[in-house]
Amino acid sequence: MKEKYLFLIISLSIVLCTSTEMNLGSSDFIEQSLFNSEMSLFPTFPIRMKGITFTDDKYCPEVPYDSKEAFYSLKQLASTGANYVSIVVTFYQKYHNSTVIFPLYTPIKSDYYTYVTATDEALTKVINYAHQIGLQVMLKPHIDLIEDPEYWRGDIGLNFTQTQWNEWFASYTDYILHFAKMSEKLQVEMYSLSCELIEVSTQTQHWIKLIGQVREVYTGILTDSSNWGYLDGRGGEDTHKDWWGYVDVIGIDSYYPLAQDIDFPTVNQVIDAWQPVIARFKNLTEFFNRPIMISEIGYCSGQCKRDYIPVKQDFTKQAIYYQAAFEAFRNVDFPFYGYFWWSWNTDPRDGGRKDNCITPQFKKAEEVLRHYYGGRFRLPKLPGSPVCECTV
Ligand SMILES: *[C@@H]1O[C@H](CO)[C@@H](O)[C@H](O)[C@H]1NC(C)=O
Ligand SMILES: *[C@@H]1O[C@H](CO)[C@@H](O)[C@H](O)[C@H]1NC(C)=O
Ligand SMILES: *[C@@H]1O[C@H](CO)[C@@H](O)[C@H](O)[C@H]1NC(C)=O
Repeated sequence: MKEKYLFLIISLSIVLCTSTEMNLGSSDFIEQSLFNSEMSLFPTFPIRMKGITFTDDKYCPEVPYDSKEAFYSLKQLASTGANYVSIVVTFYQKYHNSTVIFPLYTPIKSDYYTYVTATDEALTKVINYAHQIGLQVMLKPHIDLIEDPEYWRGDIGLNFTQTQWNEWFASYTDYILHFAKMSEKLQVEMYSLSCELIEVSTQTQHWIKLIGQVREVYTGILTDSSNWGYLDGRGGEDTHKDWWGYVDVIGIDSYYPLAQDIDFPTVNQVIDAWQPVIARFKNLTEFFNRPIMISEIGYCSGQCKRDYIPVKQDFTKQAIYYQAAFEAFRNVDFPFYGYFWWSWNTDPRDGGRKDNCITPQFKKAEEVLRHYYGGRFRLPKLPGSPVCECTV
């Protein structure tokens, strides 16, 4: 997620009503309020990759992947009917113009995030556990900037000289090959080469070389999680990347601003707004002869601010966007493989009625997920307050 674009998501949510006390503990809150709303649920349809992203790192630093709580949270994730989990690992660089990428095993606190990197040991344990409970795994390396709030990962490499590109790619290659080898060893089903490196992704020859090196050590499915693009002539990383043909599945982090002019759109209005994106996806699959999937997608249940108290409408709106994202792809005539929802935190107490951030945990959106993913039962919410703070 790009913080700069947060306002788009924030602007999705306008509050009209006062907060009502909802009884989450009994789990009635989610189901009854969903079915009492104007939403109608259609029968489900086959989805190949029923994915959800699982996050610790800077999104939930207090609950590491290999903790007992995280394992419980992963079991809850699996109980939605998901068959795929995307596991994020984050390395860092100082500025957008730095050429050295490194892990942070000692956390650094900033205003919003605590920057930290999951250890290899924790990653190994959580990947093995995911396999043990029947989930397929995508491993998804990210980069964030720790001392450059004016920029984000999409800006890495702006104005780089050839020498800087060579240095940056040397560092990135070490990072990506390390986790490609881990992925091979742990039989990780899918590996994402990068996430939203808009500027870096213009360096086609470097990517082709890196992909060759990765394929020497990793035999699973290769993808890349590109940023979304504008629906006018400008496009974005999704349409500008010319090396999609070198990976196996096209992946798009699909934060397309949809139906932004309507405060409370209906499911059908959001489905209509998806149509230009769907046309774009179809063209990409035909042009590059590759299937496509949504490598990230998510909506906040409110204003994504830590001090904002969400109201009922916020949860309904989030659920409507979830349902529309499923229904929009029901009958598409191109190889669309599925979704990786952003994101489910390692903290099993996250989400619920006080959380206006992006997780679906214990919200109406989770009910929609359960419906489309075919989940049957929900593990009980653990008592107590969330440990991790609201993030996106
Ligand atoms: C690199 O980026 C930082 C932070 O944005 C900036 O202060 C610095 O001047 C930049 N350095 C160069 C050589 O452009
Ligand atoms: C890149 O260079 C352009 C033109 O020289 C300049 O306007 C811009 O500020 C630079 N951007 C960054 C991020 O260094
Ligand atoms: C289809 O996608 C390719 C690659 O992004 C692009 O060059 C082409 O213009 C697109 N065609 C249409 C009709 O959008």
